[in-house]
Amino acid sequence: MTILQNSGLTLRPVQPEDTRAFEAFYSDPEVMAIRKYGVLGKQAARSQVQGMLDHWAKHGFGMWVVEDGITHEFAGECGLRWLEDGSDVELSYGLYPQFRGRGLATEVARAAICFGVEVLGLQRIVALSRGDNAKSHRVLEKLGMTLEWRKKKGLHGLVQYCFLSSEHASSTLS
Ligand SMILES: CC(C)(COP(=O)(O)OP(=O)(O)OC[C@H]1O[C@@H](n2cnc3c(N)ncnc32)[C@H](O)[C@@H]1OP(=O)(O)O)[C@@H](O)C(=O)NCCC(=O)NCCS
Repeated sequence: MTILQNSGLTLRPVQPEDTRAFEAFYSDPEVMAIRKYGVLGKQAARSQVQGMLDHWAKHGFGMWVVEDGITHEFAGECGLRWLEDGSDVELSYGLYPQFRGRGLATEVARAAICFGVEVLGLQRIVALSRGDNAKSHRVLEKLGMTLEWRKKKGLHGLVQYCFLSSEHASSTLS
């Protein structure tokens, strides 16, 4: 478990017992409407959780539950996972609205990138986001990621940002 110094949030691996919390999280339009998958029903949410558990079992890393370090309130998710085609490791994150606007997404995402670079030894981490998700793009820019491409996809398009460890001294990560 990682305890983040500034916010008191903790990151811990997703567990089967989190399924209900994820069903609620993934069905919340305020969390999901702007994400590339959109709002998910129960079945789709369960399959996402199973996918996250399988990823942890296969690769030894994956998505974390972000929670309040004291109350354990579920704040959201953040972590790293292989893209389906195995080409890159992707950074992914989302928070409930009451946890936003205080730099927390940037803090948890930075912890994920540090883990990827310093523990997993990754040289490259990507993040995919809907073309109109300006708030998320801002988070990615604050992390030192750069826009790699923009594609026409669906109504809103899709963008990919990239973090290259060679462009960042390790002291600038934490
Ligand atoms: C994207 C998200 C994680 C941001 O969470 P957050 O905790 O508010 O993020 P932070 O506070 O760390 O940073 C947000 C930044 O966006 C800026 N911002 C806010 N609204 C914005 C807007 N409409 N356009 C551009 N930037 C905006 C903030 O000012 C801040 O930048 P600053 O520090 O330079 O002022 C949150 O809105 C969320 O969970 N959204 C739904 C899920 C999602 O989109 N996930 C990412 C894609 S998979």
